[in-house]
Amino acid sequence: MSKEIVVSGIRSTGNLHLGNYFGAVKNFLKMQHEYNCFFFIADYHSLTTHPTPADLHSNVKQVLVEYLACGLDPEVSTLYVQSDLPEIAELYLLLNMNVYVGELERCTSFKEKIRKQPDNVNAGLLTYPSLMAADILIHRALKVPVGKDQEQHLEMARQFGNRFNRLYNTELFPEPYAFNYGTQLVKIPGLDGSGKMGKSEGEGNAIFLADTPEAIRKKVMRAVTDSGPTQENQEKPEVIKNIFQLMSVVSSEDTVKFFDDAYNTMTIRYGDMKKQLAEDMIKFTAPLREKIEAIKSDEEFVSKIARRGAEKARESASATVNAARKAIGIRHF
Ligand code: TYM
Repeated sequence: MSKEIVVSGIRSTGNLHLGNYFGAVKNFLKMQHEYNCFFFIADYHSLTTHPTPADLHSNVKQVLVEYLACGLDPEVSTLYVQSDLPEIAELYLLLNMNVYVGELERCTSFKEKIRKQPDNVNAGLLTYPSLMAADILIHRALKVPVGKDQEQHLEMARQFGNRFNRLYNTELFPEPYAFNYGTQLVKIPGLDGSGKMGKSEGEGNAIFLADTPEAIRKKVMRAVTDSGPTQENQEKPEVIKNIFQLMSVVSSEDTVKFFDDAYNTMTIRYGDMKKQLAEDMIKFTAPLREKIEAIKSDEEFVSKIARRGAEKARESASATVNAARKAIGIRHF
């Protein structure tokens, strides 16, 4: 029996952070052995925020190197760069003919982007969900390992795929669903109290896999907290919940329990908690950082993986685009 298809990607707008790791990559590592997985680097998506041409390729390479350092195995999964598959751009165009401006304008991530970059509200930002749907539908994927922030995009991908099927009387696209091995999709908070760890959030918000121990200590010690509990066993405010949640992904259960008890008995010292959190983050990222450095220096190896991945991914992508063209009625003379 053929394995279920999985697709997921990460934008090439910078190094991977702990949110990317625990929201997405951690699932990739297990899924690659159980499913037919396609993992890619979303460089077209990164163009919506206008990176300079001088940075584009090195950012793509960095994400590929970090995928490999985390343990993605190019022998068992297909790793590729989005822009190496022109079929994705074609499917994006075909889908866009039946995607409505109104529904794109209502998308939460679009509204957020308008707020963040009011001087650059480009059509790529508006149609970001169609491009993401094309990424997923191009391999007819069923499962998409992503963090909580991508849930709405997945809903739109299902909608666009279903609409295509209905309009052209086909069953070409199955319904893709967001996937996590736990029952809930994950949202890793940032360090600045803003809620989500993200590349485009403020300075000091994210811990990157490639960060030095000094950088990690500095950022964690500056993490936003409050003035401490005023009653025993009180509910934790959001900023404190965030620190505990970060601790729960990198520290042992005993460590989390120790600080939880200290919070509940009002003996907690946030300085001690942050020191412990920083050391546990360093323990988690240090081996990855070493691997990143080692893999990065082997240019030929990295290039070979990208070329081979693109070749494998294009086989599946071109079959889908040909079927989509046929369903629409596009014929060659
Ligand atoms: P991106 O590049 O912002 O993030 C990549 C992956 O990391 C997850 N993630 C998080 N998870 C939990 N907590 C966080 N703080 C956190 N920050 C990021 C994201 O949910 C995502 O899974 N649009 C996507 C990239 C994309 C894609 C796709 C994903 C393009 N095409 C097709 C899946 C399938 C994005 O911007 O992710």
